[in-house]
Amino acid sequence: MRRKLAAGNWKMNGTGAALAEVQALARAHPSPNCDILICPPAPLLHRAAQTVAGTAIAIGAQDCHAEPSGAHTGDTSAEMIMDAGAQHVILGHSERRADHHETSEMVRAKARAAMQAGLSAIVCLGETLAQREAANTLDIIGGQLSESVPDLATGENLVIAYEPVWAIGTGRVPSPEQIGEVHGFLRARLEARFGAGVGRSVRLLYGGSVKGDNAAEIFAVPNVDGALVGGASLTAADFSPIVAALDDSA
Ligand code: PGA
Repeated sequence: MRRKLAAGNWKMNGTGAALAEVQALARAHPSPNCDILICPPAPLLHRAAQTVAGTAIAIGAQDCHAEPSGAHTGDTSAEMIMDAGAQHVILGHSERRADHHETSEMVRAKARAAMQAGLSAIVCLGETLAQREAANTLDIIGGQLSESVPDLATGENLVIAYEPVWAIGTGRVPSPEQIGEVHGFLRARLEARFGAGVGRSVRLLYGGSVKGDNAAEIFAVPNVDGALVGGASLTAADFSPIVAALDDSA
């Protein structure tokens, strides 16, 4: 069975003082039925990993380079993320696809590097509002999935996050039917490409304006194995109810 995952994406938020929120979250969930992950900005990775030692919380990064080392000023490799004490990395978030012109091919190369280094890659996919209104959602999602996910994916090293671009940070959330349609499609595509064993073991997260008051409804959708949460992951007070809702659904 797939273990549920509540993942927090802090984006470019948080300095050392914010680690108190991680400590509070750990205290609130000493032995959860689901996995809990916090992805702080890169400068906080090492301290965050030290902060969660001995707790149920894991730490992840928000991006990595496709190469293990070299002349790439400002970038961080998967090896460096592992060395900092993290186990996961978010890749291909729509903000990186937009701000840094990341293509699915680049995301695939990064995911391969992450998996080879021993990290689990949380690969993000999602349609824009214009693409949804043009009834292109499944075409877009299917293309992003096949192009962004490398062949060495397994249930352990790959997590997929479905994040409609129009739902991120907007307070707009797709209906349970819309989420279920995309997640069912993703599950079928993964099974077709990797076989039923791997295809059924990859966790599928929903992301985009998940809050404490809509989490339970989203977690009841078939093939939703958790959430990737932005704004509502920044404080223990906001994230804890989401973790609790996932715990209850597990
Ligand atoms: P949000 O962000 O929860 O603030 O909408 C989600 C994300 O971008 O991962």
